[in-house]
Amino acid sequence: MPGKIRLGVNIDHVATLRNARGGNHPDPLTIAKALIGTGMDGITIHLREDRRHIRDADAEAICAWAGKPVNFEMAATAEMVAIATRLKPHGACIVPERRAEITTEGGLDVAGNRASLAPAIARLKDAGIRVSLFVDPEPDQLEACAEIGAQVVELHTGAYANGKLGELDRLRHAAALTTKLGLECHAGHGLTFANVQPIAAMREVVELNIGHYLIGEALLTGLPAAIAEMKRLMIEARL
Ligand code: PXP
Repeated sequence: MPGKIRLGVNIDHVATLRNARGGNHPDPLTIAKALIGTGMDGITIHLREDRRHIRDADAEAICAWAGKPVNFEMAATAEMVAIATRLKPHGACIVPERRAEITTEGGLDVAGNRASLAPAIARLKDAGIRVSLFVDPEPDQLEACAEIGAQVVELHTGAYANGKLGELDRLRHAAALTTKLGLECHAGHGLTFANVQPIAAMREVVELNIGHYLIGEALLTGLPAAIAEMKRLMIEARL
């Protein structure tokens, strides 16, 4: 259907902000619920090994809520597979994870890790979870995704977002190959108001996952309203 494309909203950085003060505001579950009716089609959370943003209790609460499909980003570790199969999110997106990285820096090397990834994918699928693999737009990686049983591929748009020459063409070819291989095509990383449209225009891409920019942009659009309410309460207290 033309025009039909889903937006998965990554709320990891709501947790980053919450953790900066060690309290429970802003609460990722409360924000997820508040996004119903805004155009958000799914919630994405990444439970990292170091729990630097989303924590176990967040993942538990958001998966139990499931007011919209939950996309659970995870490393292919035994610990994360055990958590995902217990929480049963709608989907799991396997990403590479290095402790020192600021964010997910590159795609998963599926072609080089077939033997370790295939059993993790099988366990997730057995639990009824739709499995996605986050990969760079490279044909050998996409073919490996199909071979080891992934249902979805999420194309890493980070290099495109950083302005790498020729990357949009690589993404277009990858999107076409993804659907040819019988896989559903998603994309994400580094997307903004300024660069989203060439990706969203690709008919094969049925879902975009976007986080950091939206949270930053929300400060610009949301802070004026929050300040107005604070000032209103202050003035009201003195009437
Ligand atoms: N998709 C995946 C697999 C990711 O790891 C991330 C970052 O956590 C995103 C999408 C969202 O990227 P960004 O926060 O840059 O929008």
